[in-house]
Amino acid sequence: MIKVKNVSKTFKVYKKDSGFKGAVKGLFKREKDYIDAVKDISFEIKKGEIIGYIGANGAGKSTTIKMMTGVLTPTSGMIEVNGLIPHDNRIENAKRIGVVFGQRTQLWWDLPLEETFSILKEIYNVEDEAFKERYDYLVELLEIEPFIKQPVRTLSLGQRMRADLAASMLHSPEILYLDEPTIGLDVMVKERIRKAIKELNEKFQVTVILTTHDMSDIQELASRIMIIEKGEIIYDGSKEMINRQFGNNRRLDLKIEDLDDEHIKLLQDFVSEQDKNAYVCIEDGALAVTFDQDVLSIAVIISFAMANFKVFDFSLKDQNIEDIVKKLYAGGVS
Ligand SMILES: Nc1ncnc2c1ncn2[C@@H]1O[C@H](COP(=O)(O)OP(=O)(O)O)[C@@H](O)[C@H]1O
Ligand SMILES: [Mg+2]
Repeated sequence: MIKVKNVSKTFKVYKKDSGFKGAVKGLFKREKDYIDAVKDISFEIKKGEIIGYIGANGAGKSTTIKMMTGVLTPTSGMIEVNGLIPHDNRIENAKRIGVVFGQRTQLWWDLPLEETFSILKEIYNVEDEAFKERYDYLVELLEIEPFIKQPVRTLSLGQRMRADLAASMLHSPEILYLDEPTIGLDVMVKERIRKAIKELNEKFQVTVILTTHDMSDIQELASRIMIIEKGEIIYDGSKEMINRQFGNNRRLDLKIEDLDDEHIKLLQDFVSEQDKNAYVCIEDGALAVTFDQDVLSIAVIISFAMANFKVFDFSLKDQNIEDIVKKLYAGGVS
């Protein structure tokens, strides 16, 4: 259904010299810089899959999605979606996909939601009966009725995101691209959105490509995970594999006086002896240890740190996607 083969995307940007001299120089000669946002990625996606596409900020997720939707043209390589080349067949492709970018809405700001939906019906040329059925279904699924007469600008973020998701599915597309659909939402709304995505997938075999920073989105939805780091896909496989490796992992952040590389090394050596997958790095000025709590106890790490460093604060959290990516990138999957 989706084929991506050896695709790269390089952006050209103009260098900015700082200060007055730079500004004057910029008038005459602009130096170019190149950013390799996506580097030689290849994958195939089958109908009905839900792909969790994860990676740190700036890794290349949105660029990949924009190329698959036809908004951006790859610098090299081949993309085929349902037999179409997205950037050459933008309109035809658009009829068969739904897209939600969590960071910005595609709804008309000043129009009541209801009218936005009618306009989309016309744009996508959906027949009356099919539209009515779909509309009723989506309004109920995403609980949109209470605010359907309100202009989009008056909606809360959670309401707007539900509306965006409904809007993207009105023309019954086979593929749904979701770029950070749960960003900034509270737990209740996240849950409702996840339920809707799951149902659309189960009921209509909608193929879903989802980027997110929320590991719970992945846990609840994804059937397969792809991880991108610095433009390269470093993992493509099952969620179970990631769970086995990182399932019980937690992260302990230690705030230490005069933190330096020696601290990392000392602590890394200590934790590695007991948990070979444990990983130490510096994060926001703290010494961050990611470890499997079934293998290595928090108390053991803390007492070692207290004995060897000047610890003035610590906090414990579940590890997040960034940690997983970092660790995979540093050590590979063992
Ligand atoms: N239009 C653009 N022009 C120049 N650079 C860009 C553009 N879009 C993205 N980039 C750069 O490409 C890289 C990947 O960005 P993006 O795909 O948005 O990452 P992600 O969605 O994973 O956070 C980043 O370094 C980003 O700054
Ligand atoms: Mg992005």
